[in-house]
Order: sequence, then C-alpha cells, then structure tokens
Amino acid sequence: MRRRLSTSAHHEEMEKANGKSPPSRLCFLATLAAMFWIMIFYFHFTVLSSNPISIPEQSVPFPSISSKSQRISEAYEALGLPKMMAKPKPKPSDLSLWTIMCKFTSNASLGPPLENVEGVFSNTGWYATNQFAVDVIFNNRMKQYECLTKDSFIAAAIFVPFYAGFDIARYLWGYNISVRDAASLELVDWLMKRPEWSVMGGMDHFLVAGRITWDFRRLTDSETDWGNKLLFLPAAKNMSMLVVESSPWNANDFGIPYPTYFHPARDAEVFIWQDRMRKLERKYLFSFAGVPLPDNPQSIRGQIIDQCKRSKVCKLLECDFGESKCHSPSSIMQMFQSSLFCLQPQGDSYTRRSAFDSMLAGCIPVFFHPGSAYIQYTWHLPRNYSTYSVFIPEDDIRKRNISIEERLTKIPPDVVEIMRETVISLIPGLIYADPRSKMETLKDAFDVAVQAVNDKVTKIRRDIIEGHRDEDFIEENSWKYALLEDGHRPVGPHEWDPFFSKPKDGKGDSHTSSAEAAKNSWKNEQRSQMSFARIFTIIWCYEKLP
Ligand SMILES: *[C@@H]1O[C@H](CO)[C@@H](O)[C@H](O)[C@H]1NC(C)=O
Ligand SMILES: *[C@@H]1O[C@H](CO)[C@@H](O)[C@H](O)[C@H]1NC(C)=O
Ligand SMILES: *[C@@H]1O[C@H](CO)[C@@H](O)[C@H](O)[C@H]1NC(C)=O
Ligand SMILES: *[C@@H]1O[C@H](CO)[C@@H](O)[C@H](O)[C@H]1NC(C)=O
Ligand SMILES: *[C@@H]1O[C@H](CO)[C@@H](O)[C@H](O)[C@H]1NC(C)=O
Repeated sequence: MRRRLSTSAHHEEMEKANGKSPPSRLCFLATLAAMFWIMIFYFHFTVLSSNPISIPEQSVPFPSISSKSQRISEAYEALGLPKMMAKPKPKPSDLSLWTIMCKFTSNASLGPPLENVEGVFSNTGWYATNQFAVDVIFNNRMKQYECLTKDSFIAAAIFVPFYAGFDIARYLWGYNISVRDAASLELVDWLMKRPEWSVMGGMDHFLVAGRITWDFRRLTDSETDWGNKLLFLPAAKNMSMLVVESSPWNANDFGIPYPTYFHPARDAEVFIWQDRMRKLERKYLFSFAGVPLPDNPQSIRGQIIDQCKRSKVCKLLECDFGESKCHSPSSIMQMFQSSLFCLQPQGDSYTRRSAFDSMLAGCIPVFFHPGSAYIQYTWHLPRNYSTYSVFIPEDDIRKRNISIEERLTKIPPDVVEIMRETVISLIPGLIYADPRSKMETLKDAFDVAVQAVNDKVTKIRRDIIEGHRDEDFIEENSWKYALLEDGHRPVGPHEWDPFFSKPKDGKGDSHTSSAEAAKNSWKNEQRSQMSFARIFTIIWCYEKLP
C-alpha cells in the first residue's frame, strides 16, 4: 500500500518537473525525485521487510529506479558506433547525380535551406529535408539533450547511435540477404557483449530509424523477401526501435513523426508560425496531393482523386512522372495552408510524411485508416483523434461511395475552428527543432519521444523490481495496448479489428503482405526523379555523416 502511494506521489513530482522547469532544474528535480525513491526503496525493502528484492536472473547488480532520473546514456557515442558501418563509394557513372543529392545530408541532415521566395515559409528555419533523415536528425538532436550522461549505470535509458535506416537504405535493391543483414548482426553481437546490456537484457536500449518498419522485418531468409531482419533478431526484440511507421502487431517498434521542412532554432519562430497559421484565409474545403495507385486494387486513391476533381471546393496536386508540383515543398505547403481539411489516405504502406506537413500548415487531417496515424503516433498525438482529425473509414469510400465533400460540410464552422486550433497547438511536438541549437521551452518531437522512452523503460524497471509480470500480453495486439493510457488493462475486441486482421488471414483490408507494401511504395516513389534522387542521397553521402 505504502509503495503504491509513494509511486503516484513520485509520478506527480516527475510530471511537474517535466512540465515547466527549465532544463537544468529539470535534471536537478529529477535527481531529487530519484533520491526520494532511494529512501522509499531502502525503507520498504530493508527496514520494513526482511525479504530481499527478488530480481529474476540478474548477473550484474540491478540498478533500481532510485538511481535513475531523466538521464539518457550516451555511453556508446564515444565508441564510434555509427562508424561500424562501411562506407560504399559511388560508381563513377553515378557521379553527376551524386552532386545533386549529397546536399540532403548537409546542415546536420536538415538539407539545404528553402528560400522563402513565394512567402509560403518563414525566412528562417526551413530546409528541403529528406523524409528519411530522422536517423541523423535524432542523433544530432540527442547532443542537445540536457540530461546526457556518459555513465550508463545511472541512466534511465541507453541510446544506441546506430543509423539503422541509413544502413539498410544502401542495400535494399540488388544485394543478397547476408549483405543486408551484416551490420545488424554485427551491431547486436557487439551490444550483447557490453556490460550495459546484461543489466536488463537490452530492455533499456533504444535506437532510431527514419524508415518504415517493414524495411527491417524480413520474414524469411528467401532472397526475394524485402529488407533485413533487424527487428526479428532476439536482441532487437528487447530493444525499442523508433521508426516513422511502426508495426501494429509488434511490441518493439514505436512510431515517431516524419520530419517536416520546418526546423526552428528558437521558440519564437514557432509562435510566429502558429499565429500565422491561425489567421490564414483558407479558400478550399479540402485538398489532396498524391499519386493514384492503379496497381493496388485495394487503394481508394483513385476514388479520392475523382471526388476531388468533381468538387468545386477541392484542390488537387497530382503527382505524375518526373518533376512535378507535387514534389515542390512550396506548392505543397501553399496548398495545405489554403485548405481546411487535408486528405491523407494510405499509400502502399499506412503512413505518409504528408500528414505532418499538413498539420504543420494548420490543415485538419482526414484519415481513412487508423494505421495512418491513430495507432502509430500515440506518443505525439492525442488519444482522442476526433479532437484534431476526421476519420472516414476506407470502406465508406471503397464500397459506399460516400461524398467526402458532404461529410466535411456537415461539420459546423465553430467545431472546425476548435479542431484547427488543436492541430496548431500540436505543432511544436510534431516538428524536429534545428539540432544545432535548441528551443528554449518548447518540447519538440524529439523531446516527446525521449520522454516516452524514459517512461517506458522506467515502467519496465519498476515492474521487474515489483515482480509484476503481464502474463496476458499478446504481442499481436500491440496496437490495442498502444491505445490504452496505462497499457495494462485487458484488451478485448475493438471496432478497428477489421483494419488489422493480418494480411495472412486474407480477411483484412490489405491483401498484400507488408513487405510487398514496402517494395511497392518504393516503386511509386521512384516514378519521380526527385524521389529517385532521394534513395541515392542516402547511399552515397554516407561519408559526409557526422
Ligand atoms: C546550411 O544552411 C545554411 C543556413 O542555415 C546555409 O547558408 C548553407 O548554405 C547550408 N549548407 C548547405 C551545404 O546547403
Ligand atoms: C552476397 O554478396 C556478396 C557481395 O555482394 C558476396 O561477397 C557474398 O558471397 C554473397 N553471399 C551469398 C551467400 O551469396
Ligand atoms: C531479453 O530480455 C530478457 C529479460 O530481461 C532476457 O532474459 C533475455 O536474455 C534478453 N535477450 C537477449 C537476446 O539478451
Ligand atoms: C473526443 O473528442 C470529441 C470532440 O472534442 C468529443 O466530442 C468526445 O466526447 C471525445 N471523446 C472522448 C472519449 O473523450
Ligand atoms: C460515386 O458517386 C458519384 C456522385 O455521387 C457518381 O458520379 C459516381 O459515379 C459514383 N461512383 C461509383 C463507383 O459508383
């Protein structure tokens, strides 16, 4: 009983500390809270009870929560872990493309600055950021984190600075599985020999990959299967991997936002931006930027494009072959800024960067599949999706041919306004601040993610200490647990079950396997030169990485 009470008291204290205190005080308060815990644990276990704390199969002394705070260990940073991966050289025939593309890894991977020619962006803080750059942005952002420690034994969580996304991007096309798996195997082999690993079997370790989870979930060792098998390795099952699209059925990956083009260096840049988005006149009811996916019979994009073309209040940016407006950050952002609602149907995989670009523009997203955001970004978006978005189930379009225009027109203007305000208020937590500096008080997507990892590892640690085990946990229901506030209540049938019945059952919405989806999404991306360029950015500019 005593223990429960103190737990919640501690919680409140931590929350307050995390809320408003400036960074240095935050560390200090967290440490104070930690010392409080030392006392409680000492008192409870040593003085009150004669039973020693039983910790299952630990060889190394188990550091209790008491010694932990908000700290993240950068112990591996000094060991040059990112350098573990080889650096392939471009072929001479590819050199002309090379020069165009390496610019995306400039400026701490934010890319080249975007000039505010059309007045769509702000004058500072905007970059042509590659959608898969989060590996490096996150790693750079970590260097600004206020509670870093070199001592992993006093850290709440351990960051593994391995560019998992950049690693696999080099080998997705035309390499055999042993090449694709090599760095992942080397990584886990190395990690598992470290003393840090044995403390919690890697449960306190996390890493970041700015790609979709399917690139790391090769199901078999067949050469034709997609990606590597990083996330299926036993060691990786214990770690947490942050990716821009996570798997609904697995517990070791977590969705974090795609990067947008906006990377403010100061709070004020965000406030000014939010203010501007509030005041904009939005002349379109809804808009859509994207390609139809004729090869995918399940895709509703064709119908969405048709509806948009027929509507007088819809704006369409069609993405066709080659360079098009659809790939110009300024055309895209301009359209989102002129729209009340932005349609975000899934492509061949659930998620799109576009959802984050549209919210940044204060445009209310319309989702057609819960996998596109609601079960993905539970750390960054409100649990109650109705507060900031509209949900139109795919089947309403696919089978019932309902009118999107009618559905959206029915939402009263005052409700639209409240929703937009919610979207605008979410902006700070959805963007990645310029990693070369740091916002004064605002918490960006990085801060939110690190806090969530901290909380998650702390909870695991507490459960181990208290001998609590979740016997009923079913990994395949991971998406349901993610939707719960405390993750521990039993989960039953859910209205979204039909969306997530596994492809292998043949009952679900998606009839292609996840790996096939990942591959297809690339086929479509490759249709434009620009995206084609994106692939190679990552491959060739490896040497330029920090
Ligand atoms: C990096 O950004 C700065 C402005 O912040 C710009 O002056 C510079 O040209 C950029 N570097 C590259 C290589 O694009
Ligand atoms: C995989 O490819 C690499 C080089 O591309 C080669 O050295 C290796 O022998 C291949 N492995 C297998 C099992 O085919
Ligand atoms: C994963 O964690 C569990 C529990 O801490 C541990 O028993 C197991 O050995 C770990 N797995 C690996 C590969 O280290
Ligand atoms: C979710 O938000 C909507 C809109 O603000 C509200 O009407 C509804 O009651 C909320 N639902 C829950 C479960 O809080
Ligand atoms: C969907 O409805 C629109 C008008 O409401 C109609 O023009 C169109 O033909 C319908 N499409 C299908 C596939 O039924």
